[in-house]
Order: sequence, then C-alpha cells, then structure tokens
Amino acid sequence: MAMIIAPSLLAANFGRLARETTRAAVSGADWLHLDIMDGHFVPNISFGPAVVRTVRPLTKLFFDVHLMCSKPEILLEPFAKAGANQMNIHVELGEHVTSLLWKIKSLGNKVGLAINPPTSISMVQPYLHQIDSLLIMTVNPGFGGQPFIYETLPKIQQARDWRREKKLRFNIGVDGGIDFKTAAECAQAGADAFISGTTLFSRPNLRAAVKKMRKAVESAPTGVRNPRETALDSQLS
Ligand code: DX5
Ligand code: ZN
Repeated sequence: MAMIIAPSLLAANFGRLARETTRAAVSGADWLHLDIMDGHFVPNISFGPAVVRTVRPLTKLFFDVHLMCSKPEILLEPFAKAGANQMNIHVELGEHVTSLLWKIKSLGNKVGLAINPPTSISMVQPYLHQIDSLLIMTVNPGFGGQPFIYETLPKIQQARDWRREKKLRFNIGVDGGIDFKTAAECAQAGADAFISGTTLFSRPNLRAAVKKMRKAVESAPTGVRNPRETALDSQLS
C-alpha cells in the first residue's frame, strides 16, 4: 500500500491560511487533513465549511475532513459542497454510525471512521467492510501539539490484522503526536496514512519535512506477523 502523508491545517498559521494551503499544495503531500471541532464533542472550536470552501480552489490535494462533532449529520452536506473528498466521523457516536457512513458515501465522498484512544478497537470491527479509511486517534482529540499515546499501537496492529484476514483495503490512518519517530513506529505497526500537524507545519521547509516523513515511514520494517503475536495484541487491546 502506498504511504499517505497528510499535513493537518490545524497547525498552520491561521493568519495566512491561503498561503499555508498553497505551501501544503506544493509540499509533495498526498492529503490535506482538516480538523473540524464543535466545542461539544471536543472542548475546542476550529473552523467550518466556509474556510474549507475558501481554500478549496488553491489546491488539488485530497481533502480529508475529520469531524470531531456531536451532530455530524447536519454538517456532512455542507462539507461535501465545500469540497471534501473524504469525511471521517467518530465511532463513539454509537447507533448513528451506520447511517452516517451511508450518508457520506451517498454524497460521493470516501468514507472514514475515527476512533478515540480510550475506545476499544472492537467497536470499529462491524464497520470495516463499509469504510475506505480507519482513523486511529493517537492523542485525545481537541488540540494539536500533544504527545503520542503509545498504548494505541496495538490497535493499529489489530486493524492491520483484520484488514489482511478479511481481505479489505481501507487505509489505516494515525492522528495526533505524529513526528518522524512515531510515524515510523506506526508504519511498523501497520499504519499507512500519517496525519501530522505541528511536526510538519512548524518547519519553514514543509516540502523537506514531508519528504523526511515519507522516507521514515517507507523505510520502517513491516511484514507479516506470527499468529502468537496477534493473539497477544488482542488481549492487550
Ligand atoms: C487532534 C487533531 C489532529 C491534530 C494533530 O485533535 O485531530 O489532526 O491536528 O496535530 P499534531 O500533529 O500537532 O498532534
Ligand atoms: Zn484530525
């Protein structure tokens, strides 16, 4: 699977979002990750469809919209119209998840499902055949610049094992505290989409940072793991 590098606009300079988007556009990145926070699902507010619509004409990058929102049903259409290519909703929304996933698909977007660090990975299992991307949160969502939570690594391994066993093709994304070292560790565990805000946008040379992250994840050792190792991970998750 090709590795995907996705700078997160949350860490960009909001005083010059257009220039920051253009910087990402020419950085060699694959996706632009757009964090939408509603002040309810998470204790922070970021930006809405108007901002996404404003930066959309500046780049051809794939727009990966991460909805950290209690009521995504009212936002799916506005973000699709604003130019989202993929929308991720959270599995913590429980009974609403199936219909939200269908709604995303019906809007012509790729379907993403996100999971918070304290939530058991078993919660996403029923939806794996419905999604294009699984977004494993490696920090508690709400803020950029937090340290990577190492306890999430077995969840990545479990997702990779399920994907292989079920012969599915969804991406396994990681989001939060992703720097060059943790990106490589996640790649080794089975991740293939790397969302990174602070580490990438804080560099004056975003292009060089994207290149360095790609090199780090492409050279990380991956491979088929033995069944005993898999059994041990599922006990841990
Ligand atoms: C966290 C967001 C992340 C955030 C990552 O709530 O979902 O996408 O932008 O930022 P860093 O890379 O700074 O942890
Ligand atoms: Zn995010």
